[in-house]
Amino acid sequence: MSDFMNEGWSNYITLVSLVGIIWCIWLLFSQRKAKVIHTAEGTVSDTGHVWDGDLRELNNPLPNWWRWMYLIGCLFGLTYLALYPGLGSYSGLLDFTTSKELTTSMEQANQELKPIYAKYSNMSIEQVAVDPKAQEIGQRLFLNSCSQCHGSDAGGSTGFPNLTDADWLYGGKPQDIQATITLGRNGVMPPFAAIADQQVDDVANYTRSLSSLPNDTKKSERGAAVFKTYCVACHGNDGKGNMALGAPNLTDKVWLYGGSQEKIIETIIKGRMAMMPAQDKVLSVEKIKLLTAYVWGLSNNKATSDK
Ligand code: HEC
Ligand code: HEC
Repeated sequence: MSDFMNEGWSNYITLVSLVGIIWCIWLLFSQRKAKVIHTAEGTVSDTGHVWDGDLRELNNPLPNWWRWMYLIGCLFGLTYLALYPGLGSYSGLLDFTTSKELTTSMEQANQELKPIYAKYSNMSIEQVAVDPKAQEIGQRLFLNSCSQCHGSDAGGSTGFPNLTDADWLYGGKPQDIQATITLGRNGVMPPFAAIADQQVDDVANYTRSLSSLPNDTKKSERGAAVFKTYCVACHGNDGKGNMALGAPNLTDKVWLYGGSQEKIIETIIKGRMAMMPAQDKVLSVEKIKLLTAYVWGLSNNKATSDK
């Protein structure tokens, strides 16, 4: 049974396909009956059809090569339909599916790549990060799997963190980055729709004061109390965040969603929920290691080369 059609349709399609091919074979043999008729002069008679004055249609039989080609074509069709899926939901004698073929070819490719990755398996992330060949592979993996969200330069955009700036939501040590990529992350800032408008305005001013952005001193003084009540549990007493929760540091001028008064108010009222998808089912451990080294290198290699 297929997911897309019931048994009845499957049988119907099977019947139409097989009867179609059998009809083609029948057609060939049924038309062979017309024998070649020779005229008295020994030449082939014509059908009586004449075009353009002297173009006669002769009553020749089909050439043998053509007949064989036709038959072989029909037999090829029948053999193909016996071996591969094509007759309704019948899966074929070879049990072929495109998804199985993809899995096999991916396994094969992984086997071929093994010796290349083996070289890096005993190296630390820091060592892999300075290996030019590993960086090249890492960049290609990044472009394939990560750039759609983090940008091809890993610079990020609203809601998607910049991975080149040495500012981390979940930690920038090699093992933190590896854990982020392997298991994914899900930062949840709950919506605070119930706080009074004035309090939201106050705490937003206070949040801006944390990174020395222009703010209304009076409001932000009041906002400090609101922050203590509602926000310190995740963002900490000093607003420096909590990497275990992915709660951003609010004092560093690096914004995931924007640091304007409006954006901060939007964050507080509506909440935010960023989702970094886990890669452990998608990428092999070896690939994740090269990606970790690539991402780690984006901020750390730069730091060493700047020195
Ligand atoms: C579907 C979009 C998406 C894809 C694809 C994606 N990411 Fe992410 N990534 C995110 C989001 C969103 C976050 C922020 C999560 C949060 O704030 O909780 C994130 C966070 C991260 C972080 C943590 C940054 C920090 O500051 O701690 C790293 C590292 C990372 N991603 C690397 C990668 C790598 C490497 C890949 C490719 C294998 C990748 N991401 C693919 C959306 C994505
Ligand atoms: C339950 C924990 C939690 C509480 C409580 C909480 N936050 Fe957050 N906050 C987070 C997390 C996690 C994020 C990151 C969300 C994401 O990655 O999508 C965040 C994001 C933010 C951002 C966006 C930062 C940026 O870089 O754009 C601001 C601003 C913010 N919080 C302010 C506050 C304020 C103000 C309060 C109190 C009213 C508060 N938060 C309460 C967990 C929390």
